[in-house]
Amino acid sequence: MARKKITVVGAGHVGATVALWLAIKELGDVVLLDIVEGVPQGKSLDLMEAAPIEEFDSNVTGTNDYKDTAVSDVVIITAGIPRKPGMSRSDLINTNVGILKTVVEGIVKHSPNAIILVVTNPLDVMVYAAWKFSNLPPNRIMGLSGALDGSRMRSFIAMELGVSMEDVHAMVIGGHADEMVPLKRYATVSGVPITQLLSPERIDAIMARTKKAGGEIVGLLKTGSAYYAPSAAVAEMAEAILKDKKRIIPCAAYCDGQYGVKGMFIGVPVMLGANGVEKIFEIELDANEKKEFMGSVAAVKALIDDLKIGR
Ligand code: APR
Repeated sequence: MARKKITVVGAGHVGATVALWLAIKELGDVVLLDIVEGVPQGKSLDLMEAAPIEEFDSNVTGTNDYKDTAVSDVVIITAGIPRKPGMSRSDLINTNVGILKTVVEGIVKHSPNAIILVVTNPLDVMVYAAWKFSNLPPNRIMGLSGALDGSRMRSFIAMELGVSMEDVHAMVIGGHADEMVPLKRYATVSGVPITQLLSPERIDAIMARTKKAGGEIVGLLKTGSAYYAPSAAVAEMAEAILKDKKRIIPCAAYCDGQYGVKGMFIGVPVMLGANGVEKIFEIELDANEKKEFMGSVAAVKALIDDLKIGR
């Protein structure tokens, strides 16, 4: 079987760490592309020098030229300017939309059949912009949100209860911003709802921490934003697609009427397989969850309306 090819655009904190996960999991050969000369080449070479120790045979190469990304199966876009302390995700919009335009055009030209995963923030707006620039069918483009936010919530629940991370499941939908919607009714420990294991106050605290989890890391790092969990989460999405696993993972997907949302990307549970977003799962939301979800949709829509690239 021919090896899969995965391009990671942006060889910064998130991009280089994604390349590491992809290589360690041997999901395919990895091309790391950045606008800065030397950085993707240097980080790739450094990763190749770790391969004998970690025993992986994925080839990792670095480049500044989109030609080298040709015929990629999956492309992960992390290029952009990260959020600085005190900076809201929306402050980033203008710069990152400009970067996304160049990147998406370069990628689609050389890999017209790729599936694109967007990581650059503010996420829901960036994936919408990337889709517009790409002209791809919407099942082939999606953004990282729930895989990361859900993992953060899972880790907080596991740490609170002192149980294995493996046994905790949690779902977070809505935009990848402070208005995201952690669904406490669907969070479980080995199938047992957390509402039976934790007090309402502790659950509320975990949900609040989940919503601000990105900001918590920015506040601690001061000079950048999170990258271990974001890169692990997008690698999980890439794996589901490359191995056609049909995993159910919430991500920023194009809704065409599902959940009452039409014509935009927002975090919803989807089935991820070889065709990208193969199906949007419509789960039951109670009145409060629905209200919060629609609030999150409205916040994303307002940002998209500001973009002026047409809806
Ligand atoms: N083309 C290619 N690469 C670019 C371009 C471009 N036009 N513009 C910037 N880059 C590269 C930068 O050179 C840098 O190496 O994108 C990389 C971004 O890396 P970091 O600054 O380390 O940012 P990182 O922490 O990786 O975050 C990247 O992911 O989680 C999100 O909010 C985060 O939007 C940010 C993105």
